[in-house]
Amino acid sequence: MILTCILKVNPQRILDVCCGCGTFTAEVAASGGHLIAVDKSHTALLRCRSAVSSDMAGYACMDARQLGFADNTFDFVYERFSLHHMANWERALDEMIRVSSDWILALEPIDDPRNEQKRNTIAAQQLFLDVQHEAGFEHYTHIGSDSLIGAFKCRNLQYEVELQRNDRVIGFDDYFFDFSRFSLATGRPDHWNKQLEALRERLGGGLLCEDDILLIRARKPR
Ligand SMILES: C[S@@+](CC[C@H](N)C(=O)[O-])C[C@H]1O[C@@H](n2cnc3c(N)ncnc32)[C@H](O)[C@@H]1O
Repeated sequence: MILTCILKVNPQRILDVCCGCGTFTAEVAASGGHLIAVDKSHTALLRCRSAVSSDMAGYACMDARQLGFADNTFDFVYERFSLHHMANWERALDEMIRVSSDWILALEPIDDPRNEQKRNTIAAQQLFLDVQHEAGFEHYTHIGSDSLIGAFKCRNLQYEVELQRNDRVIGFDDYFFDFSRFSLATGRPDHWNKQLEALRERLGGGLLCEDDILLIRARKPR
């Protein structure tokens, strides 16, 4: 969804906010413009650097809520699946707007309890958030679509919204494939494994599914 927009508008200076390990960054880097990827994690940045082969890319370790760039430095600024990993995500949005001279894109997972699989997934996500929270990993409930859209609206941006509904089913064990990484980090894996088994029993073999995704494509008024 973001890549389609990049290919269409052909930006020259792109900022990837919270690039993570760079799988998606690598696709963007191949699109042509000069790209800077930032993340607060040194480890993520190292992985991103090795994932991106283009020499049209630069990397910087920084907090998205305090970007070390001058106003209007980039003509295309995007984040993908990251705002819900930080408290005060609106500050990151303000920074994205400040450093962009033109486009600002946000792509976030969205909850919608429209069927049993979606409701199971919301319950599963809560257990994941609880264990991650105790393990010291920042991750919050998905931002509501009204809050996200409202944040763009009240900042006087021109914007379009695209919602991708996903109902692809995921098995319980696939959803929780890296649960043990976090339960071990809490120092009380037995407690968390019991919670996991209790949830499995509560959902009674019920299926989970992928998240819906909301893309907001915004431009600064000219
Ligand atoms: C789920 S990953 C998303 C990675 C990437 N955007 C993608 O689409 O694959 C979230 C990333 O946000 C980063 N992150 C979380 N809070 C941050 C903050 N306040 N400033 C910068 N990076 C942050 C994390 O380090 C992590 O790499």
